[in-house]
Amino acid sequence: MSKKTVSIIDVKNHVGEEVTIGAWVANKSGKGKIAFLQLRDGSAFFQGVAFKPNFIEKFGEEEGLAKFDTIKKLSQETSVLVKGIVKEDERSKFGYELDITDIDIIGASTDYPITPKEHGTDFLMDNRHLWLRSRKQMAMMQIRNAIIYATYDFFDQNGFIKFDSPILSGNAAEDSTELFETDYFGNPAFLSQSGQLYLEAGAMALGRVFDFGPVFRAEKSKTRRHLTEFWMMDAEYPFVSHEESLDLQEAYVKALIQGVLDRALHALEVLERDTDLLQKYVSEPFKRISYDEVIDLLQEHEKDADADYEHIERGDDFGSPHETWVSNYFGVPTFVTNYPAAIKAFYMKPVPGNPERVLCADLLAPEGYGEIIGGSMREEDYDALVAKMDELGMDKSEYEFYLDLRKYGSVPHGGFGIGIERMVTFVAGTKHIREAIPFPRMLHRIKP
Ligand code: 4AD
Ligand code: MG
Repeated sequence: MSKKTVSIIDVKNHVGEEVTIGAWVANKSGKGKIAFLQLRDGSAFFQGVAFKPNFIEKFGEEEGLAKFDTIKKLSQETSVLVKGIVKEDERSKFGYELDITDIDIIGASTDYPITPKEHGTDFLMDNRHLWLRSRKQMAMMQIRNAIIYATYDFFDQNGFIKFDSPILSGNAAEDSTELFETDYFGNPAFLSQSGQLYLEAGAMALGRVFDFGPVFRAEKSKTRRHLTEFWMMDAEYPFVSHEESLDLQEAYVKALIQGVLDRALHALEVLERDTDLLQKYVSEPFKRISYDEVIDLLQEHEKDADADYEHIERGDDFGSPHETWVSNYFGVPTFVTNYPAAIKAFYMKPVPGNPERVLCADLLAPEGYGEIIGGSMREEDYDALVAKMDELGMDKSEYEFYLDLRKYGSVPHGGFGIGIERMVTFVAGTKHIREAIPFPRMLHRIKP
């Protein structure tokens, strides 16, 4: 059989032709003279149909019967090379099916553990290496890929250079309680929580820069939004105002959503995501509101029927019920700006004339997906940054390189970081972050 294969997602370009497809058998049904195979090749799923009389006609009685029998006995996840004629099929969601003319078994599969029946999450997570083959998980990975692709595309088009921050580090980027520590030839080292501090050095060297890589947080949170290892894209840019920074973030998030609509529409359909809603997020402006105004709103509405959050005091950080309520109230992604300095990182620049608040923003996604971006303007003044670090009792000798950036031609600069998995869950419309990364690492999970 010819070895040059066609992807299932591309069969629409081969209607009426005989093609060869390398695939796995996801499921099988039929009776008597007819067999139906659900074929999967990583690009999509579609149905192949084998009709016994056709096989006898083509291969003769003996060989034709043997081939048909092989098809009827195929077990789940057997890998095959299937030859057949592509037909349009209005009845199926996918729109095409394959009239099978020949088949070769490539790899056998016996007792595949994930059967078409329902399985519990723990079982599926234990079999994550196989669960990835299912229709929904495949769609999640395709959406993740489209988001990564759109990230590189957006930054390239906007004059950014990819600047790779280290993963092993001698200091904490965000907060020392969440660090994974490791031994580095007899000295402690930490797994990066964010590339930001190094990226600031990159911005002073190269202008607009971004990084994209795995980051690690020893968070004991057991929520559907937290991983201990996740992928973050950070961007950093000199000579900008806070408003310009928010404009860039908004354009970026819109480009990601549009990128998924353009490159992974089939995956969104598989997940039954409401694409009208995604279109709305692309076309309508995002909301921008300050922390203090949000506190007013939350306090004003706390007795409302739909307000299932607890009373919040000014100065407190939001819990996810507060974030969910606020972003749903506006119905579009919402930037909450100027949080209290006391609940944000040491490097954030105070709001002019209000040292209690900092020039920062969290972007909250609607529909309960929570914070997808954290960003801020950075304190660019050497003396002010030193004073802040002293106030927090930080060891400045650990941050010499960072302070140097304020000594030699410091400029106003800012940036942001997006958790790619949070963005994937939001665009995909899937509530749990564990499905947004191939092999999730969480509080009680590090295998497989
Ligand atoms: O808000 P965070 O902590 O911001 C920073 O790390 C900054 N240094 C970024 C910057 O300004 N360059 O994290 C950024 C984003 C969050 O908005 C969220 O989307 C994601 O990272 N995130 C997580 N995603 C999954 N699991 C976790 N445990 C996460 N913690 C943060
Ligand atoms: Mg944050």
